Amino acid sequence: MRQPAINQLASYQRLQQHVAQARNWQMRDLFTQSPERFPAMTVSAAGLFLDYSKNRVNGTTVTLLCDLARERGLEAQRDAMFAGEKFNNTEKRAVLHTALRAPRTLKLNIDGQDVAQDVHAVLDRMAAFTKRVHSGQWLGYTGKKISDIVNIGIGGSDLGPKMVCLGLRMFAQPGIRMHFVSNVDGHDMDATLKQVNPETTLFIVASKTFTTMETMLNANTARSWFLRSGKEKDLPKHFVAVSTNTEGVKAFGIDTENMFPFWDWVGGRYSVWSAIGLPVALAVGYENFAAFLAGAHAMDAHFRTAPMESNMPMIMGLIGLWNRNFLGLSSLTIAPYHHDLARFPAYLQQLIMESNGKTVMKDGSPVGVATCPALWGDIGTNGQHAYFQLLHQGADVIPIDFIASLKAGHALPGHQDALLANCFAQAEAFMRGKTADEVRDDLRAQKLSDADIEMLVPHRTFPGNRPSNMILMEELTPSALGALIALYEHITFVQGVLWGVNSFDQWGVELGKVLAQNIQQELTGEVMPERHDSSTNGLIARARAAK
Ligand code: F6P
Repeated sequence: MRQPAINQLASYQRLQQHVAQARNWQMRDLFTQSPERFPAMTVSAAGLFLDYSKNRVNGTTVTLLCDLARERGLEAQRDAMFAGEKFNNTEKRAVLHTALRAPRTLKLNIDGQDVAQDVHAVLDRMAAFTKRVHSGQWLGYTGKKISDIVNIGIGGSDLGPKMVCLGLRMFAQPGIRMHFVSNVDGHDMDATLKQVNPETTLFIVASKTFTTMETMLNANTARSWFLRSGKEKDLPKHFVAVSTNTEGVKAFGIDTENMFPFWDWVGGRYSVWSAIGLPVALAVGYENFAAFLAGAHAMDAHFRTAPMESNMPMIMGLIGLWNRNFLGLSSLTIAPYHHDLARFPAYLQQLIMESNGKTVMKDGSPVGVATCPALWGDIGTNGQHAYFQLLHQGADVIPIDFIASLKAGHALPGHQDALLANCFAQAEAFMRGKTADEVRDDLRAQKLSDADIEMLVPHRTFPGNRPSNMILMEELTPSALGALIALYEHITFVQGVLWGVNSFDQWGVELGKVLAQNIQQELTGEVMPERHDSSTNGLIARARAAK
């Protein structure tokens, strides 16, 4: 288990020497020098196409990065994860989200559990349940068909299904409206309950642990709201659970007949493929959910078998590491040029930052270098009219992952070409920039005076040389979305292995949870405690006074 920090590896030190030259490269020169750059720096996998040529790398950089991955034993660690080794060492758990999308024929036994058999037994139940809801065999307590589904969950029990339901909107089943309540802020639940009718609403209480404060409070609120119309005996028709905690589900009062289980070897942020994906199956039909799993499985197969130099998750993971550790870039923007991927950046924030936002290695020793960049973003073209100014001319260089589908899911004329033109143009602009001489030529052509030209040149110059990846899919289908998510899961894995962190625990979220429990008692209690710092005491006092 003990391994050296990444910066102690010989291949890392070779990269440090290499970056001394690479820092001076201009990507526009790299393109001029090598007409083969595009074909050499593109990869296809599982229906996705990656162009990574607009990064500050050359062939040697890629070779040296692959050396680093090999010295770290990336391929062996990947195989160990797929084989079900207890990769999550602080929780002593296997990491097997890949088994959730594997075929029935998978042979994998974990602590006596036949994984494929259990996974497919739950998938079969999800398929049957989905069919019953859609066909109207599953009825509400007054005999009416279910029209609204409210998923109550947070983090991994919310972000995945919510993002995918929106992403696959074009495949939605008619007659079913999806709602997602996650926030402990009652405005979230309040706004949702105002839109639904207890007779025709199905609540899915989704929580891996079934102890998460937000979800339990929201589920109890939903239950009380339902009981204002229905009776206790009607609850099973309107509440189902998705969890690993059978006892917790029972204690809440949900019949375990109506519980869809998963297992502790599925991390919350990797769980959309499990029963946590039930809202997806209900929204788009089980066939489409199965295609979504198959797309992810195709990416798994690529990740397991493709040579490193043409392995999409490995290449993207390594280039991300190059940007972070060698070029010192501390943030990453996700720019989906597809309106239905609006929730994708938020989804990736949990996936990537909860996984790799760490500074110690698996054995507790320091990582020794910077780790996960801060990740943010929004859909194109909206982002262009908001923060792209900073991306083009701001003081920080921020790499961008562009994601686009070649075909649209609508037939409105003109829109798709306009969208793709903007997407490709932004990537070109970030790479090329615009020199002072190019600005002068443009302004002269517009017949501006020399004085005006010189005044404008510094403002209208773009440094360029700003890295980006371009990920293209044919169309945003269930299978393409499955592959896209799996791609980012594996990128996260690759970087976690290189840094030596445990990408599958999340101890960093615990401290705030414990302190919130204490403060909640203080907000509702009789006595005003004075045991915090003066700021926290002062804030509690103001909140109490406002009651
Ligand atoms: O607080 C973080 C976290 O544990 C996430 O990792 C998880 O996805 C989320 O809370 C929700 O947890 P649960 O599904 O157990 O309610």
